[in-house]
Amino acid sequence: MNIDKLISEMTLEEKASLLSGLDFWHTKPIDRLSIDKIMVSDGPHGLRKEKEGERGSIEATCFPTASSLACSFDRSLLEELGKALGSECIAENVSVILGPGANIKRTPLCGRNFEYFSEDPYLSGEMAASHIKGVQSMGVGTSLKHFACNNQEYRRMSVSAQIDERTLREIYLASFEIAVKKAKPQTLMCSYNKINGEYSSQNKKLLTDILRDEWGFNGLVMSDWGAVDDRVKGVAAGLDLEMPASGGKNDNIVIEAVKSGKLDEKYVDICARRVLELVDKHCDAKAPVSWDKEKDHELAGKIESECMVLLKNDGVLPLKTDESIAFIGEFAENPRYQGGGSSHINSYKVTSAVDAVKDICEVSFARGYVTDKDETDKALLAQAVEAASKCDKAVLFVGLPESFESEGFDRKHLRMPDCQLELIDEVCKVNKNVVIVLHNGAPIEMPFADKVSAILEGYLGGEAVGKAQVDVLFGKVNPSGKLAETFPRKLSDNPSYLNYPGEGDIVKYNEGIFVGYRYYDKKEIEPLFPFGFGLSYTTFEYSDIEVSHDELDEDQILTVRVSVKNTGSVAGKEVVELYVRDTESSVIRPDKELKGFEKTYLLPGETKQVVFKLDKRAFAYFDTSIMDWHIEYGKFEILVGSSSRDIKLSKSVYVAPKEEIPHRYTLNSLCCDVFANPLGKKLLYKALGLGKKGSKEEQAVEDFKILALGEMPLHSLVSFIPNDKISRATLSELVDILNAEA
Ligand code: BGC
Repeated sequence: MNIDKLISEMTLEEKASLLSGLDFWHTKPIDRLSIDKIMVSDGPHGLRKEKEGERGSIEATCFPTASSLACSFDRSLLEELGKALGSECIAENVSVILGPGANIKRTPLCGRNFEYFSEDPYLSGEMAASHIKGVQSMGVGTSLKHFACNNQEYRRMSVSAQIDERTLREIYLASFEIAVKKAKPQTLMCSYNKINGEYSSQNKKLLTDILRDEWGFNGLVMSDWGAVDDRVKGVAAGLDLEMPASGGKNDNIVIEAVKSGKLDEKYVDICARRVLELVDKHCDAKAPVSWDKEKDHELAGKIESECMVLLKNDGVLPLKTDESIAFIGEFAENPRYQGGGSSHINSYKVTSAVDAVKDICEVSFARGYVTDKDETDKALLAQAVEAASKCDKAVLFVGLPESFESEGFDRKHLRMPDCQLELIDEVCKVNKNVVIVLHNGAPIEMPFADKVSAILEGYLGGEAVGKAQVDVLFGKVNPSGKLAETFPRKLSDNPSYLNYPGEGDIVKYNEGIFVGYRYYDKKEIEPLFPFGFGLSYTTFEYSDIEVSHDELDEDQILTVRVSVKNTGSVAGKEVVELYVRDTESSVIRPDKELKGFEKTYLLPGETKQVVFKLDKRAFAYFDTSIMDWHIEYGKFEILVGSSSRDIKLSKSVYVAPKEEIPHRYTLNSLCCDVFANPLGKKLLYKALGLGKKGSKEEQAVEDFKILALGEMPLHSLVSFIPNDKISRATLSELVDILNAEA
């Protein structure tokens, strides 16, 4: 496609027509110029392609949702998933699959958290990047969504997320930034909400200044479905494609705006060009791929088995095939394995735990409860208790029913249905080996945590979830997932609690950068299960931490090496987590932040070295005075461990910035800030007659004086210090000297 030529030949009407969809899922073709349409479809963890001329979507593989995938901490697994998604898209002639979602989990109540990876921007960004790389390696495009700050479903189409700049950059945008820079998604989808009062769909700072000018994104931005407010403003802000179709209404508004001089035609050209560039990538027929539904079903099960998180095990797991076992709960037969809303897949087939266990051994089954209403069914409960009383081990398949969480609304609490809690209580009374297997898109409170013997968290595990559960329960697969978010003991422990869901259309992110474990750590709140936590059927020993430098400059790479040994008797995978702590800082910083992770497979007795590379961003914070990332000189601790609350090894390094941020002095500067500058200290001490004193007592008085003076602005010295060296003129001179020095 010769895009320059095409644009020069197109009428304004034709160019404007490209800026909105043909229908729900296609871009507009222009037959006169042989410009094709292309198809986009949801996303993210399976293909939801609508059937042509019929209601419903085609059959596809439902893979585990992002909440589960992130627990793998496994980049290559996400790439493998992406490749499978890409193949399904090619087989179905879909050019762009809408996902992944990289929004940060600010509150566990957000109904759509199952579609998002983590509370941590580094983990979320890395997982999203791997997902994108996998899909795009097949020649299929992705749409990283929902850019940005769509952190609640409540009033998602009108709410304004009020966020300070540093928090925006370090937490909410960083997740997208990593994915954009590392994986270059072909498209991004803007969010419904406003950020600091401006809709994302017409937010120039977001869509152009940051995304394109700072991060170098050169793909297309489409709107979330129906997210457009002021289309003309959106075109100028960098929203290339409105989805779905606007029935021609907004195209006409754009044409009128150009004709009346309200909108420069160059913006229409820019957006049209990006649509054409995307179409160009996809208009040639791709080599056909075979989509083996059985193979993808198996892959979905394999992936989930790598994601499940063993939260508790007093030795009851793994199960043995010669034990007498009861599977209890409707989810054992009819699992909840995906979320509700636009990502809902018409699954090729579903394997439940009851199906999967048949290949291994016999277990008894009791339904225990129903999911369509939260009421105890006395007969089902009695059967379940009876089954539990007759077996060695009772495995309860429980969690949140569809009606509890979905796209489009938030939860009000973190409780599981009462009827399921009652079932757990009753079963615990008759059996002391109770295993809980969870199905949920986001954290729940667990009043039963101390009573049961084991807890296996599977989130929403995709269509082959039952196979994965059985493989992990019986030890065919050794669990290796770690939590990608904190499980609080109670909802009110969550940092957003006081400010969620906001007032009317304003939600203030007052907790700032203290999202997830950054908050629990700093406040020393004991979570139910911490970020990064997960058990294994084996044990690991960490040793020999080495760093490549004790001191380095911000443009050098720090290499960190750690040895990990499998000290148990079965093979297993360990996620090794690396956090960085800034020990001296003039800005408020979290206790520690995740800056690296690696998953490693170890045979019993085997030792491997795990290597991390840390660049400037691992140490920097976003400094709003220079609107850039900055490192303050000082000591940083490199912490390596198996969870955010289980640091095994540490090492200190000193990191120096290329340039210090010059401090600008004025007559309003506090004396303590002048004292912090060696020249300022020398000059001001002299003018004020401060300095070393002879006796201890005199020195104590002097120190007290320095402290008190430190809190005074320079200009106030004129009134407080009767001294001919202190006048407004001499102080102005001092200010000039210090500013000139900087
Ligand atoms: C969702 C998007 C989705 C789109 C198309 C919207 O409501 O927010 O995530 O891709 O619908 O189904």
